[in-house]
Amino acid sequence: METVIALLKDEMQAVESQFKKNLASDVKLVSQVGDYVLSSGGKRIRPMLLLLCARLCRYNGDKHIELAGVVEFIHTATLLHDDVVDSANLRRGNRSANSVWGNQASVLVGDFLFAKSFSVMVGSESLKILQILSDTTTQLAEGEILQLINTCDLDVDEPRYLQVVRDKTAILIAAACQVAGVLAGVDENQEMALREFGLEIGTAFQLMDDALDYVADEEDFGKEKGHDLFEGKMTLPLIHAYSDSTELERVEISRIIEAEELANEDLDYICALIDEKGGINYTRQKATERIERAKQQLSIFSDCEARQALFTLADYVVSRNK
Ligand code: IPE
Ligand code: IPE
Ligand code: MG
Ligand code: MG
Repeated sequence: METVIALLKDEMQAVESQFKKNLASDVKLVSQVGDYVLSSGGKRIRPMLLLLCARLCRYNGDKHIELAGVVEFIHTATLLHDDVVDSANLRRGNRSANSVWGNQASVLVGDFLFAKSFSVMVGSESLKILQILSDTTTQLAEGEILQLINTCDLDVDEPRYLQVVRDKTAILIAAACQVAGVLAGVDENQEMALREFGLEIGTAFQLMDDALDYVADEEDFGKEKGHDLFEGKMTLPLIHAYSDSTELERVEISRIIEAEELANEDLDYICALIDEKGGINYTRQKATERIERAKQQLSIFSDCEARQALFTLADYVVSRNK
């Protein structure tokens, strides 16, 4: 990944300056909360993908910088809202904004970031890009709502889970890739390949996030271990384990997922069960298949530094520990 970061150093610096500019507000709390989340060390996967795809398509204007900022702003807005909905206390290894400033401030600053994203998007002067990104935010909201509906529902199976993953996460990553192609004016074929590439790696990204939620080192991951279980989220490691469980084990899973509090021994029980049923390996394998499919999408582009970097980034999605 270091090579990719080095390749994009100058452009990412320009993107970071955009953040500062777009966070400016007469209302001090906006810049305070905004600064806090934006400088807390996110991986910047989405803007990096947009910049790399723009490079792959030999885009030579400067609108990709603003749009890279936009996708990170949208992402940050969803995180602010998501941490309220998920009652998360930890984000990127620091206290989450909602635990520092409370739910109300987090939701409202999230709204500011969404609104600001739309003003910046208008600057792209492309109705098509505006359409893609507004459809994306709509679908993102649907994904989070769908997930809410699925809470504590043991009937959530792999297809229902994948629908949430697609809507809440993959769609934004796909949009980041597609928008770069639209900016560069590529043909329909290439534009759709970029979108599919993004959908595949976006899905793999969330699958790995859900695996890491069970197995990552809290320090590296920067989020609380077992939080999905605590929140009653049926994610793939557990769905897989559940599908292979005995009646007795199912009763126990059901009790744990519906409990108000998550006892340490309950988390240990679920982790052991997931381990025994191969839930993490299964999830990782599904993510790896997606990454392979993602890479195939790029076969219609000629080999170049940007394509290599996109492959590296794709591999990083399944090897990351944070
Ligand atoms: C977190 O996204 C939310 C998911 C879609 C899993 P990232 O893991 O990209 O978050 P940051 O920006 O790097 O913290
Ligand atoms: C991704 O889901 C949330 C968004 C797309 C906003 P998660 O709830 O798993 O993300 P984390 O784990 O809180 O980062
Ligand atoms: Mg969350
Ligand atoms: Mg998660």
